[in-house]
Amino acid sequence: MASSPEDRSRRRFMDATTEAGSWNLTSLERTAERVVGPDVWAYIQGGAGEERTIANNRAAFRRRTLLPRALGGPETVDLTTQLLGRRVSAPFFVAPMAYQREVHPDGEGAVARATGAREVLAVYSTLTSCSLEEISASAPEGPRWFQLYPQANPDVSRELVRRAERAGYSAVVVTVDVPVLGSRDRQAETGFAYERPVSIGNGPGVEHPPRRLVPNGARLRLPAPGRVTGESLDEIRRASRLPVIVKGLLDPDDARVAVDHGAAGVVVSNHGGRQLDGAPASLDQLARVVGAVGGRAEVYLDGGVRRGSDIAIALALGATGVGIGRPILWALAAGGEAGVGRYLDLLRDETANVLSQLGRGGVRELGAALVGGGPPSDGR
Ligand code: FNR
Ligand code: LAC
Repeated sequence: MASSPEDRSRRRFMDATTEAGSWNLTSLERTAERVVGPDVWAYIQGGAGEERTIANNRAAFRRRTLLPRALGGPETVDLTTQLLGRRVSAPFFVAPMAYQREVHPDGEGAVARATGAREVLAVYSTLTSCSLEEISASAPEGPRWFQLYPQANPDVSRELVRRAERAGYSAVVVTVDVPVLGSRDRQAETGFAYERPVSIGNGPGVEHPPRRLVPNGARLRLPAPGRVTGESLDEIRRASRLPVIVKGLLDPDDARVAVDHGAAGVVVSNHGGRQLDGAPASLDQLARVVGAVGGRAEVYLDGGVRRGSDIAIALALGATGVGIGRPILWALAAGGEAGVGRYLDLLRDETANVLSQLGRGGVRELGAALVGGGPPSDGR
């Protein structure tokens, strides 16, 4: 069979990864860029507007320091933890990301097998390239949560949640930061998922979030389904027995509303800088949200997490779990299931390395006293 330049790049990457130390996050990102088309690359990497929030997310981690502990400390490190009562092998998880077969022909199935084999949690989008049942069948034992984009027709939302419950997903993650898609310059330039339709595996009745507000007399109005409210969260919660997690908030008041309406967890997130350009780094909002939640729910974070040290910082500042977005897609593009597996193993090794240098034997031993450098001085 003739091999394409993409196949050859993937093979070179995977060969290189068998030699210890011969690849890293930078080579992973570079390989991914070579193997996916420019439109898919713009979709993966791009954010809203000038991509200030993408930059904020990384800058927030760069500003922080971690204080090593040299004398004493444990000989072993245990990364296992519980996320909503489920034991997982690591405190990091795969964030929900749509259309993974556009990134690699094996798509979500590859992510399911790589995470399932390692007992790492993965969250799957409403907008997966294959159905949520196919994902379950790829790794029946793998820890998995279902991410819901509330649909214009609430019956469609309810049916998705019930399907997820039947298919063995153990929580529903309601994404609340996309009443309308952010203005995504890079993605719009290529037309990916805008002019060029992308198939959705969960069925023809499932819709993408709306792209723009619509003129309504002198005003502009959100198309259905509009904004998520405390009451719509209640409705989603009543659709199944699954716990509900609210993803995509930065304001402590939003976190309070979510928890008042029964959320078992919240994800502090700016959607990887793809929604409001100029939103603060999720890391800079984490401590405030943790304070507002006051132990009534678990608090997770995503946005700009790339390395073991980032994971340690977020955990030390109060996150129970940490979501990883784009690097998973780089790994998927570069090497399918094996590529995702290698990146998860790298993250595991780096996180254990960091904990060891901090003199900590487990993820629950990290605390804010280890972290220096804070949010920018205006408090935001
Ligand atoms: C996303 N994200 C996302 N979130 C969600 O709730 N449902 C979705 O379908 C998607 N789709 C999606 C596609 C792509 C290509 C990206 C990069 C992101 C947001 C995602 O879950 C997460 O919040 C961010 O990706 C985290 O930021 P980093 O790790 O990419 O910096
Ligand atoms: C994203 C979701 C909307 O691209 O799919 O961020």
